[in-house]
Amino acid sequence: MMVRDYVEDELGKSSVFKSEQFLSIDYVPETLPHREPELRILAQTFKILITSPGQTSQKFIIEGPVGSGKTAVAKRFAEQMTQAARRRGINLHKLHINCRVNKSAYLIYLKILRTFKPKFPRRGHSPEELLQMIIEVMDTENHYLLLILDELDYFMRLKGTDILYDLTRLTDDRLNAPQRLSIIGVGRRISFDESFFDQSTLSTLQQNILHFEKYSSGALQDILGNRVGMAFEDGVVMDETLQVICDIASKRGDARYAIELLWRAGKQADKEGTSKIIPDFVRQAKADTHPELRKEVFAALPLQNRILLLATARQLKEGRSAYVTMGEVEEMYHSICEEYGEEPRAHTQVWEWIQDLTLHGLIDTKRSGTGQRGQTTLIGLSDVPAELLEQFLLENLG
Ligand SMILES: Nc1ncnc2c1ncn2[C@@H]1O[C@H](COP(=O)(O)OP(=O)(O)OP(=O)(O)O)[C@@H](O)[C@H]1O
Ligand SMILES: [Mg+2]
Repeated sequence: MMVRDYVEDELGKSSVFKSEQFLSIDYVPETLPHREPELRILAQTFKILITSPGQTSQKFIIEGPVGSGKTAVAKRFAEQMTQAARRRGINLHKLHINCRVNKSAYLIYLKILRTFKPKFPRRGHSPEELLQMIIEVMDTENHYLLLILDELDYFMRLKGTDILYDLTRLTDDRLNAPQRLSIIGVGRRISFDESFFDQSTLSTLQQNILHFEKYSSGALQDILGNRVGMAFEDGVVMDETLQVICDIASKRGDARYAIELLWRAGKQADKEGTSKIIPDFVRQAKADTHPELRKEVFAALPLQNRILLLATARQLKEGRSAYVTMGEVEEMYHSICEEYGEEPRAHTQVWEWIQDLTLHGLIDTKRSGTGQRGQTTLIGLSDVPAELLEQFLLENLG
């Protein structure tokens, strides 16, 4: 009898992909079609950091809808800035911080300090001490920093604007000392509370807001066109397929969604062993995904939070209702904790997580009207069908 070697089988299969990594969410392409004007504005604003180092610091805000290229543009720009600085012997560093992942001022300051002192210990200092050390090490070693605070809107809703205030003060208050820290804040929508900023900081920030529009179908075609060449073997992606993707994704103008559909359609072709990516694979991919379900958002959530979210989804699905009560969610939460061998947390903690998930935009909460169910908090899902969320969480819980 012939023994089947599954590993060799798999290795021997041909694939439509040439280099799949060019479709991964972390990849930032060298060229960013349809964002040239934005990159130019950034360059005009920040070139002073290179022409007159230390003379002034810049603060800038990038805002725009999901998948409109904010993170990609900020990262690519910071890369070009540091390279230009290096060529001129200026010690300009860049640091990209995702504020969804680094959820406190302390963690953010620690990341900044570690840019200059990589082995700096995690504990043992106050945030104020860290700030002080940051400025000291930059002064003594003559460093400059271009700091990107990504998903800043999320952070500000959770923690307010203190961090911006403290970081700005860090540089602006030092008369006659070199200005070493410049900031690009990135988010979907960033609102400024006037009570936190002095008038001059506020007005600089308001002048330096760059708003990204969502991508048109044509723009998405150009963006995908570049990726197709890098990621796939020649001729496997049909033009009609790209058209379908761009039509679907242009409703939101979301390049991430477009790229994900393309990647999934390719996976489907491999699965079926064909060498053409036909439009139907995209339609299938669309049915399987939901743009709101972003893996990186869920990856940043602690296990307990994901369990709570799963409890909400399951309760909503089983109740077939638009909203469920806090009590019902907690009951389900307890039973899922048991299922996963996790210790369920107290009501106050669970309540706090519910607030947190609401800020993430993952769930919706509202107070019930008096009457039917008494005064209680009702919990629903913003965009995603409960069943899809449940499935997704089960796949990603481990
Ligand atoms: N102009 C572009 N050219 C090529 N790729 C792009 C372009 N704009 C966005 N992308 C790609 O699309 C994906 C989403 O872009 P990005 O992460 O920058 O979106 P975002 O605006 O930061 O979204 P979010 O608000 O969800 O964080 C990334 O993989 C990025 O590389
Ligand atoms: Mg982003």
